[in-house]
Amino acid sequence: MRHDHLLTAKQLSRADIETVLERAREFAGDPAAHAERHPGALLALCFFEPSTRTKMSFETAAKRLGGDVIDMGAVEDSSVKKGESLADTARVVEGYADGIVLRHPSQGAARMASEFVDVPLVNAGDGAGHHPSQTLLDLYTIDENAGLDDLTIGIMGDLKYGRTVHSLAHALTNFDVRQHFVSPESLRLPRSVRYDLHEAGANVREHEDLDAVLPELDVLYVTRIQRERFPDEEEYEAVAGEYRIDAETLERARDDLAVMHPLPRIDEIDPEIDESPNATYFDQAHNGVPVRMALLDLLLEAGGDAA
Ligand code: NCD
Repeated sequence: MRHDHLLTAKQLSRADIETVLERAREFAGDPAAHAERHPGALLALCFFEPSTRTKMSFETAAKRLGGDVIDMGAVEDSSVKKGESLADTARVVEGYADGIVLRHPSQGAARMASEFVDVPLVNAGDGAGHHPSQTLLDLYTIDENAGLDDLTIGIMGDLKYGRTVHSLAHALTNFDVRQHFVSPESLRLPRSVRYDLHEAGANVREHEDLDAVLPELDVLYVTRIQRERFPDEEEYEAVAGEYRIDAETLERARDDLAVMHPLPRIDEIDPEIDESPNATYFDQAHNGVPVRMALLDLLLEAGGDAA
């Protein structure tokens, strides 16, 4: 990869994606066998929003590559609480680490911060914007289960605020994919994302009813309604719990449907299907480690890390 930073999925070409997935497959074989790759490399974790998977899998990936992490910790315990700007935090942290992973509630925050740093910066979620490293592990999981070409995918739930959706939809335009978006009218894809997909020549349909497309799907990517992004609680209550899948839903789907979810789930997927062969979401979360190992490996190489 030639990029210094990973800010949106729009910057990823098909070749970039294939490079990451190929390297991730190498690491997945034996993640513990690569501690000589970047000994001493330090990754800064700056999470201004909650995270379990993204933060812990980046930490695991850095350590598996022989490196380590420094963690800003909770916003309440950092100088952000004293009023420090994101630009200043970024400028300071780049002097401590070989790479930065940033999650922030404001859309565009990662791009802004990246302008102040020379070490590679990964956008680990900027508000309702993008989450490209999640997309790479989503693509890896899709590739493992259904293949990335001649694919029919349903993407369901909060398409308006779901940053994983925005990034995934863009990245899928690099492949021969039919994308079906399923959501209530009020949570449709933002106009800007629809425009970009159209410009990229994507094969896209929108639906309010999952049953309209369910039998055709190879993959169903379910998302959480992003409660924290709703301007008011009543709007959230109006759509909460509307799109749920359970064992009965699966009866109307293909036997080999792969059900994915970036997690955390609230109630969109009934735990009764967790043990079914269709449930792919925990494997998906585990794939975060080899995929983020591959991403860090490539970014550290490109960034001229001597290790
Ligand atoms: C997602 C996120 O933070 O956007 N979580 C994740 O990184 N796996 C999805 C979500 O919070 O719903």
